[in-house]
Amino acid sequence: MRDWMGRDIHYLRISLTERCNLKCIYCREETEYCQAKQELSLMELTRLMRVFVELGITKVRLTGGEPLVRKDLEQIVRMVASFPEIRDLSITTNAQGLAERLPALRRAGLQRVNISLDSLDAARYRCMTRGGDLNKVINSIQAAVREKMMVKINVVLVRGENDTEIGDFIALARDYPIDVRFIELMPFSTLGTADERRVPGEEILAQYPFLHPAAARDPSQPAQDYSGNGFAGHVGLINPISHKFCSKCSRARLTSDGKLRMCLGQDEETDLRPWLYGSEEHLIQVIRDAIYHKPQAHGFCSTYHAARAMNQIGG
Ligand code: 5AD
Repeated sequence: MRDWMGRDIHYLRISLTERCNLKCIYCREETEYCQAKQELSLMELTRLMRVFVELGITKVRLTGGEPLVRKDLEQIVRMVASFPEIRDLSITTNAQGLAERLPALRRAGLQRVNISLDSLDAARYRCMTRGGDLNKVINSIQAAVREKMMVKINVVLVRGENDTEIGDFIALARDYPIDVRFIELMPFSTLGTADERRVPGEEILAQYPFLHPAAARDPSQPAQDYSGNGFAGHVGLINPISHKFCSKCSRARLTSDGKLRMCLGQDEETDLRPWLYGSEEHLIQVIRDAIYHKPQAHGFCSTYHAARAMNQIGG
C-alpha cells in the first residue's frame, strides 16, 4: 500500500528474535542481554502475515537478532513461502551454523541469504563479533553458492578495525558470484555514534576508481551497485548517512516482540500484540494506519540516540 508520501510499502522485515549468538561491536554493548519470552510464535506470525499480504507486502526478509537461533525457522520460512504473493523471501544471518541448515531452509522456500561478515581475518572477525568463528561463515557461503542461492555479504566498515580490508572484500565480488555490500556505520551502540569511525561510501569509490556504476536491479534497493571489468559479482554501497534513501524507502519492520516500526531511525512503534486476538478488521486498520503514517525520514545524526539496540529493532 502507499503511505502519505506516496511511497509504495511492499517490503516487510520481520525480526524473529532479539537473541543472537554474537555481539557485534556496532550493534549492542557487551553487557546487554536478550530475552526470548516476548517472541511472536509461528501462529501469531502466520496471522500477521495474512494481514500484511492483504495490505500489499510482496517481499519478506527474516532478521533478528540472529534468525538461526529460532528452532522453528524452517517452519516460519515454509509458512511465509506458502503465500503466493510473496515473490522474494530472504534472511539476514551471521551464518554461524547456517551451512547445516541451508538444504532444509532451501526446501522450505528460502530464496536468498544476506550474510553479515565484517572481516576476512579470523582474529579480527572474532574480535568484532565478540566470539564468532570465521570458518563457519566461509563454510556457509560455500554451501550457499553450491546450492545456487543468491548470496550477499554485508560488511559494516569501522575505521580502525576493518577498513584495511576493503580491497580483500572487493576481490571476493571479483572472483565469486556474490555481492559484497559496504554499509555505513549507523548510530547504534556507543561505537556506532562515533562519527569518526564511519567510512563514507565516497571514500571507497575514490580509493578504488576501477569500480563503475552498474544498473540497479531493484529500483527501491538502498544499495548503489558498482562493478569492475570481469567481476563475477557486484559491489554495493549502502550509505544511509551520507546519502539518505528515505524518499524511496519501501520498508516496514516487525520487531520480534510484535511492534510495527516504520523506520529504523525513528523510535515510533505500534504495538500489534493487543490487536492480535481480536477481529481481523481491527488488526488491519491498526496496521494500515501505521503504514500510512510512516515517518518522512530517519533521524540519524551525531547526537541521535536509539531507544533500543539494533538487535532489538531488527537489522
Ligand atoms: N550500523 C550499520 N549496520 C549495522 N548492522 C547492525 N548494526 C549496525 C550499525 N550500527 C547490520 C549488520 C547486519 C545487519 C543485520 O545490520 O551488520 O548485516
